[in-house]
Amino acid sequence: MLHPHTIGIVGTGQVGMAAAYALFQQRIANELILIDRDRARAEGEAMDLMHAQGYVGRRRVRAGDYADLARAQIIIVTAGVAQRPGESRLELLQRNVAVFREIAEQLDRHAPEALLLIASNPVDLLTYAMEQLSSRPRHRVIGTGTMLDTTRLRTLLAEHFQVDPRSVHALILGEHGDSEFAVWSQANIGGTPIRGHTILGKRCDQSCRDALLAKVRGAAGSIIERKGYTNWAIGLVIAHLVRTIQEDQGSVLPVTTRLDGAYGLHDICLSIPVRVGIEGAGAPLPLPLDDEERAALAHSAEVLRGFIDGLGL
Ligand code: 2OP
Repeated sequence: MLHPHTIGIVGTGQVGMAAAYALFQQRIANELILIDRDRARAEGEAMDLMHAQGYVGRRRVRAGDYADLARAQIIIVTAGVAQRPGESRLELLQRNVAVFREIAEQLDRHAPEALLLIASNPVDLLTYAMEQLSSRPRHRVIGTGTMLDTTRLRTLLAEHFQVDPRSVHALILGEHGDSEFAVWSQANIGGTPIRGHTILGKRCDQSCRDALLAKVRGAAGSIIERKGYTNWAIGLVIAHLVRTIQEDQGSVLPVTTRLDGAYGLHDICLSIPVRVGIEGAGAPLPLPLDDEERAALAHSAEVLRGFIDGLGL
């Protein structure tokens, strides 16, 4: 029996622990199992979180092995190796695929039914790798994709228009990376299109939109330059995804899934809005992209395709 409130986290680095903290604090998981090559680190993190039970109530957080994931309904994968000086993106990717090969084997052996949430970078390519390497159905492997970039864009637009970010409906799609793009044709504030309208006395014309997109694309770099990594926002993205799945909300989210025909794309993983529920990811929604957005999506796919061919899967 899978236990809906048992969540596994593979990789207890900054992202894994930001996710763990969000899940713990929001009481999304009763039991968190932390797995890391550095067992002592996972143990230390588990002990640290457990000491907060006096404020969040009884929960269980423990370090474990892959065999302990047998009950987990959802497993979050944040593991990966860091870039070596002088190493190319493809070389780094190949080393991460080797790490994923090992993880996929362990997860297939011990937790074949669990839904996998991939957050390791480059997320689109590693989601693709996990789908290829794991024998579980493809819709049960989901990457965090452009959910993070999308919340960044909504936050920036909210600042510009001085409204609640939750009233901003805008999407970043494609690769979680440099080729990502904004779906301006559909972006709106509480239903009023951003393109061509003055909203609450403000406009966001082409140059404003270009500047915001550039900020979103550069967000990770700007943060990494200052603190060395990003973790808090992605931790909350992961917690939101876990809750959506656990509660079978059927939320439509821009996550990384495999495209096999939709938007004329085949055998590629990138972000398009899909319905997310207890079964995993559903079919992509038929978003009416304009010509420029279609071209941007095709470009993102092309960029990713170049790397997939070098993965050796
Ligand atoms: C981010 O966009 C690095 O993927 C990470 O914050």
